[in-house]
Amino acid sequence: MSQTGPQPVLDLIEAFRRSKVLFTAVSMGVFEHLAAGPEEAYSLSLRMEAGEDAAARLLDGCVALGLLEKRGALYANTELAALYLLRGSPQTLAGYILYSDRVLYPMWSRLDDAVREGTHRWKQTFGFEGGLFSHFFKTEDDKRTFLLGMHGLGQLSSPAVAAAFDLSAFRRMADLGGATGHLALAIAGRYPDMETVLFDLPEVIEFAREFTAGSRVRPVAGDFFGDPLPTADLYTLGRILHDWSQDKIEALLGRIHEALPVGGGLLIAEKLLDEDLAGPAPAHMQSLNMLVCTEGRERSFSQYCELLRAAGFTEMRGERTGAPLDAVLAIKK
Ligand SMILES: C[S@@+](CC[C@H](N)C(=O)[O-])C[C@H]1O[C@@H](n2cnc3c(N)ncnc32)[C@H](O)[C@@H]1O
Repeated sequence: MSQTGPQPVLDLIEAFRRSKVLFTAVSMGVFEHLAAGPEEAYSLSLRMEAGEDAAARLLDGCVALGLLEKRGALYANTELAALYLLRGSPQTLAGYILYSDRVLYPMWSRLDDAVREGTHRWKQTFGFEGGLFSHFFKTEDDKRTFLLGMHGLGQLSSPAVAAAFDLSAFRRMADLGGATGHLALAIAGRYPDMETVLFDLPEVIEFAREFTAGSRVRPVAGDFFGDPLPTADLYTLGRILHDWSQDKIEALLGRIHEALPVGGGLLIAEKLLDEDLAGPAPAHMQSLNMLVCTEGRERSFSQYCELLRAAGFTEMRGERTGAPLDAVLAIKK
């Protein structure tokens, strides 16, 4: 007779401790301190403004998780840390880690209330109200951390999303709510003759210029709910629809459909839920994350089709990309 062991449950009990070790090491600057070369716990603890014993425990925890290596008494960054945890690395995920530590972790501790009430936790956790992005962009530092987080994570998917469908028939694309422009840059790189516009709120466009400088991507400031959309025959929405309520999604998709010429397209980058809604786990974790910090949710391909059909689109295709974000292409006929 087979007996199910408790390991999956034990792993889940421990999962948040592992996340918090990663978050704390990044926020205390461990990987930057080690960027110049290996160091002992004592000198590192001074730079971390921590006690030597507790600092050594955090460092050894990082060794156990594969984030640091130990050579005798010296700690050093692993290749994984140098690539993805160092703030200065082009592939850094430090922005998303800091945002997870400062914003998501406290809000997730109220998941039970979010589930009971069906709403985000900004007011309960941080005590203020306002439009969704006034939370994410409350201070310059909050905005920078969030956008660098979007950039680090987005870069992992945008090349795969840009390659998911043949987009060669389109002449001019506009990435609505494109943040730093990683998706517009990926499409511009793949289709050298396509005009590419990055459209986002004015305070984001200001910041995005650092990323689009020297490229063919043209930054344009505006509000996709209120301002005229830039002229395009291909619009893209990367992680936008999962932020908003059904009413706001209907309004946005309606505006996009109206602005498109016949034959125009809308490319959506989101995590797709399985059709039976039984997986995959990262998409469900993201859907709960959306419950905790936005008005939105994740959806299956057929749930996106329903929204797109209601907006007037008639031809839809979905692709699992193998990257963190999947792709849906809708055509206006
Ligand atoms: C979750 S982020 C996704 C960013 C980017 N598409 C990506 O995948 O990395 C949402 C983006 O929508 C932008 N945004 C929010 N409200 C907007 C509005 N009303 N008009 C234009 N952009 C908006 C935000 O500034 C932010 O860059």
